[in-house]
Amino acid sequence: MRIGLTYDMREEYLALGYTEEEVVELDKPETIEGLEAALAALGHQPVRIGNHRALAAALLAGERWDLVFNIAEGMHGLGRESLVPAMLDAWKIPYTFSDPMVLAISLHKGMCKRVVQQLGVPTAPFAVLDRSEDAAGLALPFPLFLKPVAEGTGKGIDDRSVVRDPEALAAVSADLLARFEQQVLVETFLPGREFTVGIVGTGAKARIAGVMEVHIPGDEDAVYSMETKENYVGVVHYGLLEAGPLREDVEGVALAAWRGLGCRDGGRVDVRLDAAGRANFIEVNPLAGLNHVHSDLPIMTYMAGGDFTDLIGAIVASALERTDARRSSSR
Ligand SMILES: Nc1ncnc2c1ncn2[C@@H]1O[C@H](COP(=O)(O)OP(=O)(O)OP(=O)(O)O)[C@@H](O)[C@H]1O
Ligand SMILES: [Mg+2]
Repeated sequence: MRIGLTYDMREEYLALGYTEEEVVELDKPETIEGLEAALAALGHQPVRIGNHRALAAALLAGERWDLVFNIAEGMHGLGRESLVPAMLDAWKIPYTFSDPMVLAISLHKGMCKRVVQQLGVPTAPFAVLDRSEDAAGLALPFPLFLKPVAEGTGKGIDDRSVVRDPEALAAVSADLLARFEQQVLVETFLPGREFTVGIVGTGAKARIAGVMEVHIPGDEDAVYSMETKENYVGVVHYGLLEAGPLREDVEGVALAAWRGLGCRDGGRVDVRLDAAGRANFIEVNPLAGLNHVHSDLPIMTYMAGGDFTDLIGAIVASALERTDARRSSSR
């Protein structure tokens, strides 16, 4: 099968003058090379496309693919992850991962938590701030956790993210609003253990790829920040969670959110325990990192005994299954 690859490469944007922080969510050349190698090992013909502009040019030039493997994160606005899938929908070209609506909702963590809460999945009490002045009127008890409402890869998350008093709440929310030019999500701080849950598949066929504990030893309030994510070696301890009631709770939260939101093919759900020890939804990553060395979903796949080619094969199989079902029902 001829499989196109859509992605946003860090170096292209650095060359245009973007900063390291602005490009931290984007891909390195090794990531694309790893995906090409896995697709080739599965017997496919990988074809690099690139970002949304390259996709538009290729489409207008008449190029077509049997499937597009899409990991393009985009750069601007709340539709940045939805852009490539929306274009592919318009051109009726099948692609991996979620549709434009799911990607837009999950990118906005406040909107996403509203949906998740309505699904009956536990998630920390929260508010979305437009202005730091509004922080004073919040009814949420301290400690609180603050982050930009629509970023990933730990952007805007550091040791100031946990706030314990009104002064820190006002200062940190004002700083985040100014730095990221978007709303700020204020949540009850979840003090318990943290897990990231890998999922492969869609709907009823979605299955757990692994439940990995993310543990930062020696710091009770440690959070999985941008700095930690980039420099995880020797700092973060990763381990698969053993079977038992806790794993059932964590898996149940992750799968209910994944299925309820309509996420497809593969990704990760981040979960943390509240003060009562119950699993709470933090956020979903329907375009999870797929670097074969550093990304959480591949890492937990290896811990569970799988390899990278199996993981990519399962994602492609899930996408093709959806596509075949649609084709046969529209005949
Ligand atoms: N309510 C909370 N209580 C405690 N810690 C939290 C809370 N929300 C987020 N965190 C911490 O901050 C980290 C990053 O938060 P989150 O997963 O929302 O950010 P992200 O940048 O989108 O992450 P990713 O790299 O997975 O895309 C979490 O892994 C967790 O350690
Ligand atoms: Mg996360």
